[in-house]
Amino acid sequence: MMREKGSSRRDNIARLPSSSKTFFRPHSITKIDVQSIQDKGYQVIRGFGVDVIEFEQVFNRISNEQLYCSPRVGGICHQYSVEVNSDNFSQQMRTGGFHTDFMFQDKPPEYIGLLCLETDPKHPIYGRNQIVSMSVLLERLSSGFGLSVEDILQRNLPYHFANGQHFSVPLLHRCNGQLQFKFHQHLVTDGMYGDKFKEKEIETYMTQLHAAMIDVAEDICLDAGDLLVLSNHHALHRRGECSVSFNADNKTWRSRKMASIRFNL
Ligand SMILES: [Fe+2]
Repeated sequence: MMREKGSSRRDNIARLPSSSKTFFRPHSITKIDVQSIQDKGYQVIRGFGVDVIEFEQVFNRISNEQLYCSPRVGGICHQYSVEVNSDNFSQQMRTGGFHTDFMFQDKPPEYIGLLCLETDPKHPIYGRNQIVSMSVLLERLSSGFGLSVEDILQRNLPYHFANGQHFSVPLLHRCNGQLQFKFHQHLVTDGMYGDKFKEKEIETYMTQLHAAMIDVAEDICLDAGDLLVLSNHHALHRRGECSVSFNADNKTWRSRKMASIRFNL
């Protein structure tokens, strides 16, 4: 669970060791464009570089030491590559579903930083990211399907897991008077009710959501060293399809490599 500023690492807020704070480049970024991220859902910073230690240091400073720590992604900075065969959503070649990171936590992290370390072998056609901003999506759901904000707030989506846990969570919820997303397209469960009418209703709703999302999604194409900062509360994101290529000389697969970090302001 995300805690308030000043909490300790066990509360999912992590402080970097003081010895790792000494390499901060004075010309590096010192803040993000909150207004742009609020309006469009994201900000792209070109040419940041591929130094993941600096990536952590910069966002440790920007977030005033409110980096998000999760054992599930291996700590603060999660580095991952697309794999030939993986059960992990973030490592698969197929297109990811639009989602909120850590949506089942009481307070999902506010922002996500995604740093491209190596581009997709078929860059720039494959290996993109897509972002859906809240305001544009709500307008499209209203104009395209007559869905109001109040409709969306009341329409629960079912999430059932193999361990028996299940949740009913609407796409939108209100937190401190602000609308926030909580959604994971590939985790929404269908066919669990034994109620054909209810199942059809959810299927239709999910089809409408996907149509509106894919219509308004913005394609982001990152070169190595480019950084994408996005809102985890006011935007949804997903990975576009990725590819791999085999190097016959050293018998290895090459693929897109990324680093991610999550934080509050
Ligand atoms: Fe994600």
